[in-house]
Amino acid sequence: MKYYSVAIVGATGAVGEEMRKVLEQRQFPVKDLKLLASERSVGKKLLFKQEEIAVEQLKPHSLKGIDIALFSAGASLSKEFAPLAAEQGTIVVDNSSAFRMDKNVPLIVPEVNPQEVSNHQGIIANPNCSTIQLVVVLKPIHDRYRIKRIVVSTYQAVSGTGKKAMSELLKQTKSMLDGQELEFDIYPYQIAFNLIPHIDVFLESGYSREEMKMVGETRKIMGDNSIAITATCVRVPVFVSHSESVNIETKEKITVEGAKRILESAPGLALIDELAELKYPMPAYAAGKDECFVGRIREDESIECGLNLWIVSDNLRKGAALNAVQIAELLIR
Ligand SMILES: NC(=O)c1ccc[n+]([C@@H]2O[C@H](COP(=O)([O-])OP(=O)(O)OC[C@H]3O[C@@H](n4cnc5c(N)ncnc54)[C@H](OP(=O)(O)O)[C@@H]3O)[C@@H](O)[C@H]2O)c1
Repeated sequence: MKYYSVAIVGATGAVGEEMRKVLEQRQFPVKDLKLLASERSVGKKLLFKQEEIAVEQLKPHSLKGIDIALFSAGASLSKEFAPLAAEQGTIVVDNSSAFRMDKNVPLIVPEVNPQEVSNHQGIIANPNCSTIQLVVVLKPIHDRYRIKRIVVSTYQAVSGTGKKAMSELLKQTKSMLDGQELEFDIYPYQIAFNLIPHIDVFLESGYSREEMKMVGETRKIMGDNSIAITATCVRVPVFVSHSESVNIETKEKITVEGAKRILESAPGLALIDELAELKYPMPAYAAGKDECFVGRIREDESIECGLNLWIVSDNLRKGAALNAVQIAELLIR
């Protein structure tokens, strides 16, 4: 068996830490693991397979000799360092939004479009977390019923913003309970006991960039630009796992039974839909798990061919680290 030199760029972050765990849990054939972050983290030691690895500062030559680099340190660092790494022969799996819509960069969800892996030129993009869980569920339905339109509203966990946002929710929750004044730094408003209908920056159209990422990325991954998509993205005071309320309109008549039959055998997802037993997907249940959970499946009674679904998945795992490692697995197949 061949073993690979692997690097994680952004190793100390919410996604980077999960990447280290997923590489170990899935027994990825790692020869050596390089952990890279900012100057602030130099000297920190992190465990991989019971061995301590010292975090190093990311520098232009850091990825020399690395076979596969998992990038998760933000778009501007990806833009600066990923092309450099690719030129030196490293294959980059990039978690940021830097290259996702670049037509020369495959955007991959292994359950949906694994064939795209052979088209890379050194960089492969990992989609946005809310897009990944959406397409894992909708692609098998699209293949059978042809989706015409998607209306999606998200309920996104604070870990999607990174580690500092998780601390902010924790601190604000404590302050609220202690009757103290709230401090905010990461979000423009309090997130504890609140919802914020604003993720990433607003565009002139009134949509947020996160909402438009879902539109463009879903079409690119599903390979169908004809699907009409509209999204509303909301940040909620949940630590881990994004939830989505999804309404689809299909060309062919879709039934609950027909959809369930397809979803029961589709890869990467789990159906939880037993209303009599009060079973449906929830973020607290999905956190730490690999699947995209789907439930509350109902026919949309307001139109001829429509369905409502509720989709929940761990944004740090399938939404980021797990999907990236699965892409790396495709590379070494
Ligand atoms: N969180 C999610 O659910 C999610 C999902 C999909 C994609 N992503 C993407 O993944 C990336 C990271 O997200 P995150 O949630 O893990 O953020 P995070 O918790 O804030 O972590 C950021 C990471 O980037 C590193 N970093 C920052 N500045 C650096 C520099 N100048 N040089 C080298 N490393 C630097 C940080 O290192 P220090 O600790 O040293 O500062 C840390 O390891 C972002 O592009 C995000 O859009 C996140």
